[in-house]
Amino acid sequence: MRLDPTAKITNKERWGGYHLLILESPDIAREAVPGQFLMIRVAYGSRPLLRRPFGVHSRSDGSLGIFFKIEGEGTNLLAGKNPGETLDLIGPLGKGFNLGLGEEGEAHSGAPALVVGGGRGIAPLAFLAAEMRKNGRTVKILYGGRSRTDIPLKDRLKAEGGDLVCATDDGSFGFSGLVTDLLDKEIQKSPASAVYACGPEPMLETVNRIAAAAGLPCELSLEARMGCGFGACWGCVRRIRKNGAESWVKICEDGPVFSGGDVVWTVKG
Ligand SMILES: Cc1cc2nc3c(=O)[nH]c(=O)nc-3n(C[C@H](O)[C@H](O)[C@H](O)COP(=O)(O)OP(=O)(O)OC[C@H]3O[C@@H](n4cnc5c(N)ncnc54)[C@H](O)[C@@H]3O)c2cc1C
Ligand code: FES
Repeated sequence: MRLDPTAKITNKERWGGYHLLILESPDIAREAVPGQFLMIRVAYGSRPLLRRPFGVHSRSDGSLGIFFKIEGEGTNLLAGKNPGETLDLIGPLGKGFNLGLGEEGEAHSGAPALVVGGGRGIAPLAFLAAEMRKNGRTVKILYGGRSRTDIPLKDRLKAEGGDLVCATDDGSFGFSGLVTDLLDKEIQKSPASAVYACGPEPMLETVNRIAAAAGLPCELSLEARMGCGFGACWGCVRRIRKNGAESWVKICEDGPVFSGGDVVWTVKG
């Protein structure tokens, strides 16, 4: 974990309420692995007091990308930042994805890993998919949103050479329906080796159920309100199974990525 109080913003893109910032932070960029996150101070005054968590979305030449959706005060302030300004970062934080998930088993070898992103949940998965491809792994991204405006990265992910299938709840682009219905269809259609997902909690619960029914290993990136991001405040605890027994764990330290089978669900998908 490092502190970089002067990470320079070098580029900014925007699609409606979705924003992409590129931040120059060579030390944090070098250490980051897919699934890890940054705690970012979005203002220098006392409002908001707490840093906000964002997954690492991309990495290139000493820089990191964050992709986020405006949800409230903090993300709104962040969206107002411009190239040339600096941000105060702590990172990389948390435990990331297991990039070799499902590869060890003979049963699914060679089949693609399915990477399922719902809305802004695509943020850490773009980095995951890029690193897995670098390692020679076949990856298929399933990218879903309410409408076509909620899947703004579709052209970019396609241009990066990825196998990409989109879903929209309102049928305005790609498969018409939930991205979890698309996942179910893809798994019925052809073999897969593993499932990785990030998105709203009901989506993750359904992804986990579908993966478990198909006998596929599954990792999920969870969210929680975070005070510190590195284990000091106990603000992010939830019930997780560890060695078969339920216990309270800190999402920021023990996660945010967990094996689907270890998550204790509080909502039903
Ligand atoms: C590990 C981690 C990684 C994340 N990565 C990304 C990312 O890459 N891109 C991205 O767009 N967002 C990401 N988020 C969510 C992001 O941190 C929140 O949207 C942000 O903190 C909201 O701050 P705000 O001040 O704009 O909203 P607030 O004013 O604090 O809240 C606005 C609304 O959003 C809800 N909310 C805020 N934070 C959370 C949260 N963590 N979980 C559930 N509901 C919340 C509040 O209940 C409220 O209804 C991540 C969260 C975590 C825990
Ligand atoms: S956010 Fe403080 S302990 Fe997890």
